[in-house]
Amino acid sequence: MKLQLLSDLHLESETFEPEPAPGAEVLVLAGDIDSTWQGLTRFAGWPVPVLLVPGNHEFDGRDIHQGLAQLSTLTQGLGIRLLYRDSCVLTDAQGVAVRWVGATRWSDFDLFGVAGRARAMRAGRYFADVMRAERHGRPFDAEAVREEGLQCRAYLEQALREPADGRWQRTVVITHFAPSLLSADPRYGAAPGTASFCSADDDLIPQADLWLHGHLHCRHHYRVPRSDGSATPVVCQARGLAHKGEDLGLEPLRVWEV
Ligand SMILES: [Fe+2]
Ligand SMILES: [Fe+2]
Repeated sequence: MKLQLLSDLHLESETFEPEPAPGAEVLVLAGDIDSTWQGLTRFAGWPVPVLLVPGNHEFDGRDIHQGLAQLSTLTQGLGIRLLYRDSCVLTDAQGVAVRWVGATRWSDFDLFGVAGRARAMRAGRYFADVMRAERHGRPFDAEAVREEGLQCRAYLEQALREPADGRWQRTVVITHFAPSLLSADPRYGAAPGTASFCSADDDLIPQADLWLHGHLHCRHHYRVPRSDGSATPVVCQARGLAHKGEDLGLEPLRVWEV
């Protein structure tokens, strides 16, 4: 199945006009599309199915769970399929059924192991303060982000264990946060703050046929070996902020295949 991948358009402040990629059979939006949600209307009437995994900025200034319910209503009206710890199956032109497993996969701050967690969480407080979000009536602080992240991790483990039983031939995982330190932004490397961007889900990657993510404002395309000799590609096609030059090298019309 041929797919187009976009993320981190940040339409709340950026100027960017998304266009359908010729040949793509599905558009994947891997989060941070627009913190105001207004930009999501641009994907209404898109010529192929649109899948959205919300990024952290889709929850800016909101209650996580109330926001999720409101976003679900909005996206249903726009014909966009929202995936927050959820999956769906789409069949391509050749009759191949592809399962799309989506989770924001908030940080659990264990990128550098349990020993590095406290330091990573201190670095992560900055992001929680910027978000000004809430969860269960309390600030969505680093501890709450970790709880939500662990629920995302548990969902992905369970979804990847689930037998296909003939219902799909391929599985694509979509997360907003990255599944590996291999996705670190080269500008920052393996700093404690990188645990607010990448999770140590390296063990899960080979269980998928393709892993798509956003959140890092740079591009990635690398392959993680599988036991059968094949490899799982990990792809990030984030746009980022033009005034920082983060959009240099973006290929918004590139088509990926699974
Ligand atoms: Fe972003
Ligand atoms: Fe993000």
